[in-house]
Amino acid sequence: MKILLVGSGGREHAMAWKITSSPMVDELLCVPGSDAILSLPKAKNSGVDQGDLVALADYASKQCVDLTVIGPEAPLVDGITDEFAKRGLKVFGPSKRAAMLEGSKIFCKELLLRNNIPTAGAEFYDDYEKAASALENWEPPVVVKADGLAAGKGVVVCDTRDKAREALKSMLVDKTFGAAGERVIIEECLVGEEASFIAITDGEVVLPLAGSQDHKRVDDGDKGPNTGGMGAYSPAPVLDKAMSSRVYEEIMLPTVRAMAALGTPFMGTLYAGLMITGEGPKVLEFNVRFGDPETQPLLFRLESDLASIMSAAVDGGLKKTKIKWNPQTAVCVVAASGGYPGHYDKGKEITGLGELEGLDDVYVFHAGTKLKDGRWYTNGGRVLGVTARGQGARTAVEKAYLAMQKIKFEGMHFRKDIGKKAIERP
Ligand code: AMP
Ligand code: GLY
Repeated sequence: MKILLVGSGGREHAMAWKITSSPMVDELLCVPGSDAILSLPKAKNSGVDQGDLVALADYASKQCVDLTVIGPEAPLVDGITDEFAKRGLKVFGPSKRAAMLEGSKIFCKELLLRNNIPTAGAEFYDDYEKAASALENWEPPVVVKADGLAAGKGVVVCDTRDKAREALKSMLVDKTFGAAGERVIIEECLVGEEASFIAITDGEVVLPLAGSQDHKRVDDGDKGPNTGGMGAYSPAPVLDKAMSSRVYEEIMLPTVRAMAALGTPFMGTLYAGLMITGEGPKVLEFNVRFGDPETQPLLFRLESDLASIMSAAVDGGLKKTKIKWNPQTAVCVVAASGGYPGHYDKGKEITGLGELEGLDDVYVFHAGTKLKDGRWYTNGGRVLGVTARGQGARTAVEKAYLAMQKIKFEGMHFRKDIGKKAIERP
C-alpha cells in the first residue's frame, strides 16, 4: 500500500512513525514531511507544494497513491478530499462541507444547538455595534470567538466586558483575523476540566480512541499565554468509562448522525474539545483532524494498525473494526524554543537525542527540527515531544522527564507538570 501524508509537525511524525510500522504499507510519500519524518524507513519526499491541492491530486494520481492522510485542518477545510475524489482518489478525512465543523465555529455551534448536543449557550454577530450592545446582557466572564480558522488565536476568554469589547473590536472592526473574524460568537464561559475525545468515523459508525488531555498554556499550573500544546497524556482519568460513554452517546453519535442528516456525512477523525462540567461533558469545539500533541501519546499506545483502521473508515467498513490499546499510560512533554509562543530563534543545536534511540518505552517525536551534517537543530516554536510509556501516570511522567534530562538546546523550555492532573486525580 502506498500512502501520502500531508503535514510536517509532531503529530505528523507520530502518524508517520505508526503508519510506516504497518506491514501493509510499502511506501509513505510526504508533503512536505520533515527531516525526522523522512528519516523513517519507507518515507520519501514528494517534492510537491502542500498548498497546491490540484498539483497534489495530480501527483497522487500519477503515483497511484492508495490512501491520502491529512495532518492539519487547512487542506481539509480547503477541500482536498473533494479535489482528490474528482480523480477517484481516497482521502482519509472529511469533505470540504463536512470540515466546516472546524472551519466555521458558527456552523458547528448551530448544529450543536439545533440538535440539543451539550455546549455553551451562544449568540452570533457580524456587526460591532450590535455585538457590543448585546454584551450588556451577558454576565462576564464570556468567551469571544472568531468564526473561521485563526491558527488557534481566535478565542478570547474575557473576565470583563471591557476585554470582551476589545476582542469584538479587534475581530469586527480592526479585522485582525481577516475574513475569519467577519462573524463572531459571544458564548457562555464553561467551568470544569478540559479533555480531548478523538474518534474515527466512516460517517455512520463512530470508533472512539482512548481519551487524552492537552496542556495548552505555556507555563506550569495552566498559566501564561496559549500555545499549540505543551504536552499531553492518554488515557485521561477524567474521561473514565462512564464519562466516555456519555460523550459517545450525547455528543459523538448525535453529531455524526446530524452531519449525515444534513447530507454532509463526516468521515475521518472527529476530535471533540470538551469541558467536563458539573452538568456533564460539553463541546468547546470540534476539530476535523488529530490533535497535536494528543496524537503522540495516543499513537504510542495504539497496538492496532492505524493504516488499516483509516482504510476501513474510507471504505465505510468500521463496523467490524476493533481497536487494541497498550493499557499503560503514555505522556508527551513538549520542549519549546526560548521565547515561544512569542518570538523565538531557530538553528540551535539539539544534543542528547542519540541517548534516547532504541528504547522501547521512550520515543522523541520531532515537531520543529532540522538535520544538517548529521546534527539536529531547532527549526520551530515547538521543537520536539519526548513521549514515554509506563504503568500508570506517575511512572510514565517520571520516565518522560528522566528522558527529557538528556536533551539540551539553548533557550529550551518545557512544562514541569505535564500529567499532574492524572497523577493527582483520586
Ligand atoms: P477552542 O479553540 O474553541 O477550543 O478554544 C480554545 C480554548 O479556549 C479552549 O481550549 C478553552 O480553554 C477555551 N475556551 C473555549 N471556549 C470556552 C468556553 N465556552 N468556556 C471556557 N473556556 C473556553
Ligand atoms: N491539541 C489541540 C489541537 O490539536 O488543536
